[in-house]
Amino acid sequence: MNKFVGKCAVIAALSGLAGFATQASADVVGNAKAAQGKVAMCIGCHGIPGYRTAYPEVYRVPMLGGQSARYLENALQAYKKGDRHFETMHGIAVTLTDQDIADIAAYYAAQTPSSKNNPDK
Ligand code: HEC
Repeated sequence: MNKFVGKCAVIAALSGLAGFATQASADVVGNAKAAQGKVAMCIGCHGIPGYRTAYPEVYRVPMLGGQSARYLENALQAYKKGDRHFETMHGIAVTLTDQDIADIAAYYAAQTPSSKNNPDK
């Protein structure tokens, strides 16, 4: 019985923490416009749609444009923390603040392969 109660307390504490973390990151609002100066170094490797030197067929790195902001944010945070391993992306992600990551995620999420007139390209 005591063991069971203990477990519940741990779970309650953990979900409290998770709730706090969600709350904290929700305060950071991505701004696609602010990302325009921050994505210059990403372009060389992640050929973005509309960037003429790369065609979708020759992408050797994941295409970022059009992925969901939440996914991109999580991926960058995971590289930053080392939860997702890739030397180069870790090196880049550690230089980004939470605000940078949110801005960049918003920037890439605003791009869709089919929207040719997307001003954010
Ligand atoms: C030196 C080349 C290089 C540069 C520069 C680079 N990336 Fe990457 N990136 C990669 C490679 C290679 C992968 C795939 C790594 C893997 O398999 O985990 C990747 C993966 C990613 C992913 C995960 C995508 C997915 O579909 O899971 C994101 C998000 C990302 N990069 C964002 C960025 C951003 C934002 C920048 C600029 C701030 C950037 N990258 C700069 C090479 C690069």
